[in-house]
Amino acid sequence: SRRVTVRDVAAAKRRGERWPMLTAYDAMTASVFDEAGIPVMLVGDSMGNTHLGYDSTVPVTLDQMVMLSAAVVRGTQRALIIGDLPFGSYQESAAQALRSATRLVKEAGVGAVKLEGGERSADQVSLLVESGIPVMAHVGLTPQSVHAFGGHPVQGRGEEAAQQLLRDAKAVQDAGAFAVVLELVTAELAAEVTRSLHIPTVGIGAGPDCDAQVLVWTDMAGMTDWPGGRMPRFVKQYARLRETLGDAARAFAEDVVGGAYPAEQHSFH
Ligand code: KIV
Ligand code: NA
Repeated sequence: SRRVTVRDVAAAKRRGERWPMLTAYDAMTASVFDEAGIPVMLVGDSMGNTHLGYDSTVPVTLDQMVMLSAAVVRGTQRALIIGDLPFGSYQESAAQALRSATRLVKEAGVGAVKLEGGERSADQVSLLVESGIPVMAHVGLTPQSVHAFGGHPVQGRGEEAAQQLLRDAKAVQDAGAFAVVLELVTAELAAEVTRSLHIPTVGIGAGPDCDAQVLVWTDMAGMTDWPGGRMPRFVKQYARLRETLGDAARAFAEDVVGGAYPAEQHSFH
């Protein structure tokens, strides 16, 4: 069976169908989500936080993105896999963006790439799309600019900021993006952007009216260890994986220390 494509994504918006997206960073987890029918997966540079132990996405390299994107592609058969362009791999020029995106397509086998920015990234989006690489854009709170934002404030509050966000979303649509992530945007503004665009909006912390919703999988499954226990308001946990995995590790340790594992049935003679 063939993979989901950007055409399927466009058709979903025409039909008014919402769809889910999850991040994935390794073959095994991605295969679980593929079997669960998640149609679109993002190999997010959030791997810097979730898998590499950094406190932002800024240090993530293109080599790291290529390696983990290839793993997610190998672990899946049906989902559209999108690879994130990391900080410093596309801001310089459209040509730099094309070189970086080409590596994700050729070496990792992704079906699309994602990059941050609206008007400021429109030239990059245009060249990639003209070159045959589908692009998902990302506006609102763009985590690669955490130092400029000075944290993670909700975006689009106030008339001026709202108008800029609308211009940013229109700019990437006009440049040919097939979808756009809206991160940490008021529900009212995200609804307005979604109505104004013919490409789907993918919300994270952007209210219920986006065409699609994305969560970082470790947040979705209750694996993330929130600093100070403070989980953002937009996250919903669908499992308690951190507790489940910790319980399993403690039970294994107890069995080993107490001599209950391995038992006769685990042994060879
Ligand atoms: O890197 C990431 O996980 C993302 C999503 C949160 C949209 O960019
Ligand atoms: Na990202």
